[in-house]
Amino acid sequence: MSIEPINDKQAVAIHAAKYVKNGMLVGLGTGSTANYFIEELARRQKDERLKVTTIASSNVSMIKAQSLGLNVIALAQVAEIDLYVDGADEITPDMTLLKGRGYDLVLEKLLAKAAKQFLVVADKSKLVERIGTNYAIPIEVMPMAWKAAKHSLEEAGGVGELRQNVAKDGLTVSSHGSLVLDMAFDKSISEQTLNALINNTPGVVEHGIFYGLTSAVLIAENGHIEERWR
Ligand code: A5P
Repeated sequence: MSIEPINDKQAVAIHAAKYVKNGMLVGLGTGSTANYFIEELARRQKDERLKVTTIASSNVSMIKAQSLGLNVIALAQVAEIDLYVDGADEITPDMTLLKGRGYDLVLEKLLAKAAKQFLVVADKSKLVERIGTNYAIPIEVMPMAWKAAKHSLEEAGGVGELRQNVAKDGLTVSSHGSLVLDMAFDKSISEQTLNALINNTPGVVEHGIFYGLTSAVLIAENGHIEERWR
């Protein structure tokens, strides 16, 4: 039995789950919108006997999916997945994303790249004109290389610091074991250029700009879902 969404995040997650077909290998995102998607997938498995295998983008999503009875396998077992559904922190008109506020961006980007289709689910609050409007860009760096990487990024005009933990008495360590630099750059640098610049910085493990990876964004506003396909 389908359920009545309680908010836009749940509405868009339920809508995205309609793209899941029998036998698919599906990537599970991380965050509150992705959580609604995991719940809907588990509901369809139970109520509609949907056959699905999943790969989680974080430990928290893996634990949630398993607790709801979904079959979760490891990324190491596969080279490609059918569909990846995840939220985002920012979405631009050309479907560039900012992700990784939750420290899980390494696996998130691997799944986005490995997916035949990557659907982004969000409410309207995530739409921006430019990446970096509401958040700094999270850049995961090898712990031994953080100073060198920060220096290289500063030479390219970046400004920022290592992310602290919530209690502000230590540093944030990502799921992947990296330190996280939160950096802002001059607004005149295009997303494409910034993506290449950070990709080419030694010591950088991964970063939160998802450029050219999105198949579609599904945006919810007051219960209405708008689909934008590449
Ligand atoms: C997790 O690392 C992020 O990339 C999330 O996708 C993002 O924070 C979205 O979260 P909400 O769905 O809770 O807004």
